[in-house]
Amino acid sequence: MWLPDEALRPLGSRRVLVAVGPDDGPVAQTVVDEVAAATSRFGGVLVTGPVTPEDALACDVVLAIVGSAGQVGTASATQPPPAGYLPRTDSYVPAVQAVVDGLLVLGRGAPMSPGMFGLARHDGRTVVVAGDAAGLLYGLHELVRRGAPALTCPDDVVWDLPVHQVRMLDHWDNTVVHPVMGQVERGYAGGSIFWSDGRVRDDLTRVAQYARLLGSVGINAVGLNNVNVHAAEARLLTDHLDDVARLADVFRPHGIRVYLSVSFASPLTVGGLPTADPLDPGVQDWWASAVRRVYETVPDFGGFVVKADSEGQPGPFAYGRDHADGANLLARALAPFSGTVFWRAFVYDHHQDWRDRSTDRARAAHDHFTPLDGRFDDNVVLQVKYGPMDFQTREPVSPVIAAMPRTRLAVELQVTQEYTGQQQHAVYLGPQWDEILRFPLAEDGRTVGYLAAGLPVGTVHRGDDPVPPAGGLVAVSSVGDDEFWTGHPLAQANLYAFARLAWGEEDPDAVLDEWIGLTLGDDPAVRATVHAVLDDSWRTYERYTAPLGVGFMVRPGHHYGPDVDGYEYTPWGTYHFADRDGIGVDRTRATGTGFTGQYAAPWRDVYESVETCPDELLLFFHHVPYTHVLHSGTTVIQHLYDTHADGYDEVVRMASAWSSIEGRVPQAFFDRVTQRLAEQERSAREWRDQLRSAFFRRSGIADATGRTIY
Ligand code: GCU
Repeated sequence: MWLPDEALRPLGSRRVLVAVGPDDGPVAQTVVDEVAAATSRFGGVLVTGPVTPEDALACDVVLAIVGSAGQVGTASATQPPPAGYLPRTDSYVPAVQAVVDGLLVLGRGAPMSPGMFGLARHDGRTVVVAGDAAGLLYGLHELVRRGAPALTCPDDVVWDLPVHQVRMLDHWDNTVVHPVMGQVERGYAGGSIFWSDGRVRDDLTRVAQYARLLGSVGINAVGLNNVNVHAAEARLLTDHLDDVARLADVFRPHGIRVYLSVSFASPLTVGGLPTADPLDPGVQDWWASAVRRVYETVPDFGGFVVKADSEGQPGPFAYGRDHADGANLLARALAPFSGTVFWRAFVYDHHQDWRDRSTDRARAAHDHFTPLDGRFDDNVVLQVKYGPMDFQTREPVSPVIAAMPRTRLAVELQVTQEYTGQQQHAVYLGPQWDEILRFPLAEDGRTVGYLAAGLPVGTVHRGDDPVPPAGGLVAVSSVGDDEFWTGHPLAQANLYAFARLAWGEEDPDAVLDEWIGLTLGDDPAVRATVHAVLDDSWRTYERYTAPLGVGFMVRPGHHYGPDVDGYEYTPWGTYHFADRDGIGVDRTRATGTGFTGQYAAPWRDVYESVETCPDELLLFFHHVPYTHVLHSGTTVIQHLYDTHADGYDEVVRMASAWSSIEGRVPQAFFDRVTQRLAEQERSAREWRDQLRSAFFRRSGIADATGRTIY
């Protein structure tokens, strides 16, 4: 993973003053500990506690928490000192103040929002200031990412703050091994790093490493268990809070709050009540006291993640209540403690009759939730998957994201590669997420990223004042107890990229470049090769799998490998309707399911017409003949033939590029990637040949290039 010891060498070989003022909390301590470890490893000096002004001025690097007026040694914005507290930094305040003042003069002078930091070179010194300990931690790691140049370059000032207030990873971990789903649902990297045999692991060393890695890239929330809450996990809330507390203790020093997925039926199944009806006072009391106990054990507990009335999970529909009733029930229990409910919008009929052409799963979230806009309490965040279906390689973005202006909303991405190669295939998802976050979904032109951040029209987030409360960005985690954390070592880049994009970085190539440098060092050949393998890998994967936005041509159940009709006659609502003449789902208002009508202008019209619908989404919105000519100038069938052949060829090139850097990266890392690329090549060949053959057999139309069809 990123952040090897070596990454801290430039900082660790300097004289570094850390002035955390009166903040003696665990995050401030982490900053001190990081610098202490780095300086002792690389021969530098950590200066902290009372020092003389001369000592302070002799430092190369200053990391300081400043008060709201920019004073060092005063209360941080979030943690006022207890009455009568004497700042232990007293004796070096004047000296550090001089340095910090220099930075503030160069900077913006406005109050600092949570997590914000300033980083400057000034008068031959590097200074990081923040208004709170989390900001100082993020500033420290920005310094580490920038490496030696940040400690030597001419004067320069950067102010940075997170775009999304909540930057969250949801673990789909079961505490016990589930008979069908295993321990980590959709996990491709071994067992859970948290849980073993129903309890938290004894040894949390790896969790501590993970927490440090996540904190270094600004993740500040982690869901500890699967959204499908089975019987054992439902009892985390009541019987195993000590376990939750142990995990919270490990995450807290890195600025991360923990969340639990809970079952809506808990009052019934765990509490022994006759009902879980959200309007029942007994049920409300049950949740209130359950939540009180949680906060007695974990005072900074984040809140709940809830999958209700979805794929068999219980929910308010059983009692004739709606999802605002359901979400507010939990929100009101959490509100006295400032907890939040992340309520998932992934609600659809998973018992659909495939013969029924009028029901459209893509419509479901919008149909269920938009009538509830304005009814959710302030501490409810509606967590919406990026697409209307389910984490496919290519989907339009969900119209729900722009349709609920009076609801806090978080967009959910999937770092774990359920439908994108399951960490067997090298697929860098940064470009996919970048496209999603940049998509100008709202009628006023706001992008998905701005909508999820709650930013008003025209905001330039860099240097702007605190953002209004909004949901944030959430992703399903990809990590397990595998030696390389993510199974495929290159899949680590996705975890890193999610965090950096959630922070607000906007260039997935630059983010990948950062990850390569922080993980594999500075060798230009390695850097170029990893780029050659990953830069276009998401589009390559798209080429050899389901074409033109149609989705779901995977093996049912585990979702790996091609199966053209695997989901075609199932109850899951995931169809492509390919016959001998054509393929695709008619979701138009004119002749189809009307899904296009859920979009604001201009998208409702752009998607409605085959003339304007983008090629990559054509089959998501339209049923067309194989001979339909795409904007690219080729027919649908020839596109399918070409992309599947080209996609496979590209994988062969990726594997050959990788083989050129043997000896330049750690051998075990090299070997694991080599082995996964071989599997990717085998699988891509299978995709290529099955898709090309299946559609030749259906359409009877030959591949114009004459390439072999089996
Ligand atoms: C997908 C996935 C499930 C998961 C669900 C969800 O359908 O296959 O394993 O539970 O998404 O997001 O809740």
